[in-house]
Amino acid sequence: MEKEYPGYLRHVKNAFEAGQIHIFRWWNEITASEKKNLLDQVSTIDFGLIKKVFNDAVLKPARTSRDNLTPPPIITFPKKDAEKEMAHKAKLTGEISLQKGEIAILTVAGGDGTRLGINGPKGTFLITPITRKSIFQLHAEKIVAAQKRYNTRIPWYIMTSKSNDSATQNFFKVHNFFGLNSHQVCFFTQDMVPVVDLQGNVMMDSKSNIIMSPNGHGGALMALKEKNVLNDMKRRGIKNIFYHQVDNILVKIADPVFIGHHMRNSSEVSLKIVKKCDPEEKVGIVVYIDGNLHMIEYSELSRKDMYEKNENGTLKYHAGNIAVHMINIDFLEKVYQSGESLPYHAAIKKVPYLDEDGNVIDPKQNNAIKFESFIFDILKYVKKSVIMEVLREDEFSPIKNMEGENSPETSRQDMVNQFGRWLRNIGVSIPVDVRGNVIGLIEISPCFAMDEEELKNKVDKQLQFNGKLLL
Ligand code: UD1
Repeated sequence: MEKEYPGYLRHVKNAFEAGQIHIFRWWNEITASEKKNLLDQVSTIDFGLIKKVFNDAVLKPARTSRDNLTPPPIITFPKKDAEKEMAHKAKLTGEISLQKGEIAILTVAGGDGTRLGINGPKGTFLITPITRKSIFQLHAEKIVAAQKRYNTRIPWYIMTSKSNDSATQNFFKVHNFFGLNSHQVCFFTQDMVPVVDLQGNVMMDSKSNIIMSPNGHGGALMALKEKNVLNDMKRRGIKNIFYHQVDNILVKIADPVFIGHHMRNSSEVSLKIVKKCDPEEKVGIVVYIDGNLHMIEYSELSRKDMYEKNENGTLKYHAGNIAVHMINIDFLEKVYQSGESLPYHAAIKKVPYLDEDGNVIDPKQNNAIKFESFIFDILKYVKKSVIMEVLREDEFSPIKNMEGENSPETSRQDMVNQFGRWLRNIGVSIPVDVRGNVIGLIEISPCFAMDEEELKNKVDKQLQFNGKLLL
C-alpha cells in the first residue's frame, strides 16, 4: 500500500490510530479500483472526530428536566389592531427587501428520507391533490409567483447530498427548472460522515465501501462556506436567507411579514413556530436556557419538560419548530470568523451491513449510529432574534411518513383545506365533513394565487363548487 498509494498514508494512519483498521480487512481481496474507492472515502473522514462524537454520544447523560428553561418571547399571531398594524409594517419592509433582490431561498433537501421510504429525493415526490405536481415544482411555482409579484429575481439554493444530488439536478433539468431561469437555481452538496455500530466501529456495506450518511442539515453551515455558496450570495447582493426544509408543503416561501420582522429587529436568526398540537408531537421546541435562545429537539426533551403546563392548563413549552428561518449573511460571516463548528447529535438506526465474515446482514433491531449536525445549534451564537408564531393550518404540513400522520395523504388534505378556507372566506360555498375536511378536491397553483388576498381579486364569489376545482 505504501508504494502504490503514498498520498493516502496519512489518512490510513488516522484510521489505524482511531482503532478503525478493520475497514481494510478485505484489502487483499478487492480490485485496484475498489482499493482506490475505499482510500478516497478514507481520505474524507476525520476519524479522530468520529471517535470523539461517538464517545460524547455514549457518555451523554439521559434526558433530564432542567430548571433553567423558560419560554421565549414570541410575536404572536396578530389578532388585535396594534398587532395587525405591526405585521403590516413588517410586510412593507419585507416587500421592499424582496424588490431590491436581497433575499435568497435556501432549501435543505439532502436528507435520506428513510421514514418516507421512497426511491429518490423527497422533493421529487408527487404531491398536489389534482395535478400531482412534485414538491419541488410546488416550491418553484411559489418562487415564480413571488418574483412576479415583487418584480424581482430570487435566487434559490438547494442543498443536496452525495446520494441524491444527481437525481435532484436531473429532475430540475428534465422539467426545465419549472419556469425558473437555470442560473438562479444553485445546487450544492453537504458532506457525508461514516455510520458506526453500537461499539463505535465504522460500518461497511461491501468489502470496499464504508457506509456514509449525510451530516445533517447543520451541514449547510459548513457547505455554504466551503462550497463558495455564501460568496455567490454576496455577489448577487443577498443580505438575508429564507431557510426551509423541503418536506413542508405549506411553507410560505419568501413571506414578506417574516422577512420584515427579521429586518426591523436587526435579527441575526429568526424562527417561525406553531403551537405544539400535543406534548409528544415530533417537533423541536424553542426555549430560553439561562436566558439564551435554544432549540431542544423532540428526542432530547425530558418527559417532565414535555408535559409541563401553565396555570391555565396550556403547555408551558409550546413553541414548536417548523424549521423556517431567516438567517442574516453578516451574522454567518461572524460565526465563520469565530472558527467554531456545530456539534454532532447521534441517532440510533437500523442499517444493513457486512459482517466480519463478509455476509450482508439485514438487522432486525437498531444496530447503528448516524451522526447529524443541526442548523439550529447556530442559535447559541445568536444575540438578536425574532420568534414569530404562525398558524399551523396555514404554514405547516410536513411529509415525514408514507402513512398516518405527516404523510402525503394528510398533506394533500391540508392543502385542499387551506384552499377551501380561502374560497369560503371569499364567499364561495365549500362543503366540509364533521372533522372540518373539505369534501372534494381543490388545487390552486401559486402562479394563479399565492394567498387569499390575491384569490379574492380573481375569483367570482358566485362560483359553484361541484366537488373538484383546479385554478
Ligand atoms: C425536523 C426538526 C424539528 C422540526 C421538524 C419540523 C431536525 C433535527 N429536527 O425534524 O425540530 O420540528 O423537522 O418538520 O431537523 N436534511 C438534510 N440533510 C440531512 C438531514 C436532513 O438536508 O443530513 C433535511 C431533510 O431533507 C428534511 C429536513 O432536513 O428536509 C428535516 O430532516 P428530518 O430528519 O426529517 O427532521 P425531523 O426529525 O422531521
